[in-house]
Amino acid sequence: MASASKTTAGNGTKTVTRSVGNGKQATNLPVKIRQTKMLIDGKWVDSQSGKTFETLNPSTGEVIANVAEGDKADVDKAAKAARKAFEKGPWKKMNARERGRILYKLADLVEQNKEELAKLEALDNGKPLSVAMAADLPLVIDCYRYYAGWADKIEGKTIPINGPYHCYTRHEPVGVVGQIIPWNFPLLMQAWKLGPALATGCTVILKPAEQTPLSALRIGELALEAGLPEGVLNIIPGYGETAGAAIAEHYDIDKVAFTGSTEVGKLIMQAAARTNLKRVTLELGGKSPNIVFADSDLDQAIEGSHFALFFNQGQCCCAGSRLFVEQKVHDEFVEKMVKRAKKTKVGDPFDPKTTQGPQVSQEQFDRIMSYIDAGKEGGAKLLTGGSRVGKQGYFVEPTIFGDVKDEMKIACEEIFGPVMSIIPFKDIDEVIERGNRSMYGLAAAVWTRDIGKAHRMAAELKAGTVWVNCYDVFDAAAPFGGFKMSGIGRELGEYALRNYTEIKTVTVAM
Ligand code: NAI
Ligand code: MG
Repeated sequence: MASASKTTAGNGTKTVTRSVGNGKQATNLPVKIRQTKMLIDGKWVDSQSGKTFETLNPSTGEVIANVAEGDKADVDKAAKAARKAFEKGPWKKMNARERGRILYKLADLVEQNKEELAKLEALDNGKPLSVAMAADLPLVIDCYRYYAGWADKIEGKTIPINGPYHCYTRHEPVGVVGQIIPWNFPLLMQAWKLGPALATGCTVILKPAEQTPLSALRIGELALEAGLPEGVLNIIPGYGETAGAAIAEHYDIDKVAFTGSTEVGKLIMQAAARTNLKRVTLELGGKSPNIVFADSDLDQAIEGSHFALFFNQGQCCCAGSRLFVEQKVHDEFVEKMVKRAKKTKVGDPFDPKTTQGPQVSQEQFDRIMSYIDAGKEGGAKLLTGGSRVGKQGYFVEPTIFGDVKDEMKIACEEIFGPVMSIIPFKDIDEVIERGNRSMYGLAAAVWTRDIGKAHRMAAELKAGTVWVNCYDVFDAAAPFGGFKMSGIGRELGEYALRNYTEIKTVTVAM
């Protein structure tokens, strides 16, 4: 039986519960594990301490592989390599179009190795292979191509200032960037981070999540194959409170980009403030309102709302986890939604019939089960699910709570699992106010056939993304990020380039 161990973070501010396997080594893996070392200065190396950590198969709790465990010393070494590559290497000096060509090549290589990468993702993260093939990988490939196209289009302005001067701006790469990513979409979060950083000519130290290091390391191999010069991309697998914190605190890293919990987001900002004021962008948690009006196409709203919450085992920062349903259609909606949830096929991510795999770790499993207990204790009505599935791995039944009140714990905190809360509402003014009553502001959705109502909602909801009659529609060109405590800055699209450039004003007397 898998268990979890508690350790206290190095900086003493966060207690970490760490997943520990069931002691068994997985055999007959569905995909070959080619890389378990760290990438520094174009070379695959062991950690300086010689330590490794286990990455687990969440379907079984077994050990997939032992991966080099990076720490401060490795981050230092990577930061030196990234600095050298930035200041002296060919990356900054090469034609911008050539940088783009390398990124296009990386996209092509990801496409050629799509199935292998999707299998690594399914094995290490637990997401269904069919979903990784249909959603994650196409978005990853598209993201690299999209930013490849930007490489030679990063332009400044000519500005008419007073006097006999020629004034213009240069958008220069910010320098050495640290990127810390989570485990819910390992390949996609890596692409969102690397795409704009590499297109603008920065050099990178990337730390994948300790739960899912394998696909990131394979991308490192493909990046070298694509012709990325040594030191431009360094990948340091390891834990957050050691390797991650070392990135956030480093004096010679110019910028840090982070996706993960709001709690750690604050630590990253504090570390930047304590040290060199490195630029910080954060993509954090959410508790996104998904609002269904009585005048919507109800069947479409049910399918969309199911997807909004249960996609990726509920492990989405933008999950539609506060599902507001207008009272007039509430009972019918609830009945149909429960039926829909019961159609979910929970099981082996490699079975093509599976639509929901395991949660990523014992830690996440325990967290979700404690939220289910909190829902029951808080007086919400358990309509379906609520239990573990099977005896091994971290599988949770698709769970729906009805009669949820705004102030209940399950309606306020991010659960990050397959647990839906259905909340009735009476009218538009009330649901705007209640929808916005959250410390988060990542995403929101509205289901209605009334176009005026749709646009009013889109304007009034305090969220970085509003979907109308759809959910989780992502595109490399469309910016994504949060209002309020859901983060700082935007990823994707042209907006993301701002995170990776410094603007220089040049004034020339004529
Ligand atoms: P986390 O925020 O601890 O982990 C995310 C990344 O940050 C990982 O790479 C981790 O190694 C790193 N990290 C952790 N502590 C750090 C530190 N002190 N300094 C620098 N880096 C650090 O999230 P965790 O513990 O995996 O999940 C906890 C909750 O966070 C989830 O239940 C969910 O609510 C939320 N979360 C949100 C995500 C999002 O997409 N916005 C992704 C993952 C988790
Ligand atoms: Mg794993």
